[in-house]
Amino acid sequence: MQFASKEISSAQQAPHKRLIDDLERHLAAPYQKPLQTHNLEAFEQLLKHINSNKYEQLILDSCCGTGLSSRALANNNPGALVIGIDRSLKRLNTESLNAGELPENCLLLRANCEDIWRLCEREGLVFKQHFLLYPNPYPKTEHLKRRWHGHPVFPLLPKLAQKTELRSNWRIYLEEFELCWRHLGAGETQLNELAVQEPLTLFERKYLNSGQALYQLICQNQL
Ligand SMILES: C[S@@+](CC[C@H](N)C(=O)[O-])C[C@H]1O[C@@H](n2cnc3c(N)ncnc32)[C@H](O)[C@@H]1O
Repeated sequence: MQFASKEISSAQQAPHKRLIDDLERHLAAPYQKPLQTHNLEAFEQLLKHINSNKYEQLILDSCCGTGLSSRALANNNPGALVIGIDRSLKRLNTESLNAGELPENCLLLRANCEDIWRLCEREGLVFKQHFLLYPNPYPKTEHLKRRWHGHPVFPLLPKLAQKTELRSNWRIYLEEFELCWRHLGAGETQLNELAVQEPLTLFERKYLNSGQALYQLICQNQL
């Protein structure tokens, strides 16, 4: 029962009414919060790895938690450098205690995504794929601003990768993200119910064990 999880319940039964108004405000006033030192340092590490020039492609795993997905992606894409980012050192350390050596082509960084994304965009880095797997859903209606598509950094996201994949057990989160992506005119999107054979992340495993439906949104970047 350790991995059981309750389905998301929310007063919000459809995309948030303020969704596009908030996005418009963020487009009009780009995110300019000062970058934090620990994120700048993490980004230096990221650049050092990339500049080693050994890798054909770059894959980003944002909000990677313990990094289980980053490890799997690295093993499945031996020519790529997979960069997992999470703000919680505790989470990042948990899996490294249990999962043995990190694959040589996997880098886990403790950092805030909003700063790393801005630094990547500034540097002109474009990832082949960007995974956002089970971000905190913040299902309370008043917490729209905490969801990634409600955050002022959102307009940068399409520029970061050729393809962005988001997964969640709350379909409305994906519907909102999709509406915002399309509002930016960024590219085609596809929202599916996900049939998982082998869970990619710990949260995915937890939701599957509880019999919950899981959803996947694929967003192409045609900007
Ligand atoms: C629900 S967990 C999902 C973790 C993992 N992707 C999984 O599926 O098992 C969400 C993760 O997002 C991380 N997170 C939340 N906000 C973040 C931010 N601004 N920058 C980096 N990580 C963040 C949290 O620390 C947490 O590990």
